[in-house]
Amino acid sequence: MSQSLYTSSDLPKQQKYIALLPQLKSLLEGETDYIANLANVSAALKEVFGFFWVGFYIVKDDELVLGPFQGPIACTRIKYGKGVCGTAWKNKQTVIVPDVEQFPGHIACNAASRSEIVVPFFKKDEVIAVLDIDSEHLSHFDETDALYLQQIIGLLSPDLI
Ligand code: SME
Repeated sequence: MSQSLYTSSDLPKQQKYIALLPQLKSLLEGETDYIANLANVSAALKEVFGFFWVGFYIVKDDELVLGPFQGPIACTRIKYGKGVCGTAWKNKQTVIVPDVEQFPGHIACNAASRSEIVVPFFKKDEVIAVLDIDSEHLSHFDETDALYLQQIIGLLSPDLI
């Protein structure tokens, strides 16, 4: 695997995800260190889509703790059920927020964030981490993002965390 990703910035987002998936697969499959893999997934999504903030929060006891990410500094700990991330953890579901100001309890790590998607990462039936992506644009995320981000999460081995 070369150290840069091959995608065209002109492609619609579905095509970008389709181009990115096999590249990420080959990048991740030879590596057993989960910090390295979460870091590269964050970097790849930032590089290809230019998202404002991309990163992981990892379940530790009763909190989510900030993991590898790309973007501005962020909140380090989020309680179970709190914010968008804690809600995705509690409900065990992907959460798409078109306007963060309309989401009760949204945690504003950065005032520039306007919309958000959070995708849980499961080990068996338990959430062990979440992928959180923020955009500075309203309504940036939809079911296409949810579908492909879930597939990207599926490339990661839950046994490594
Ligand atoms: N907005 C998130 C907090 C994490 S930051 O967006 C990086 C939330 O409400 O859970």
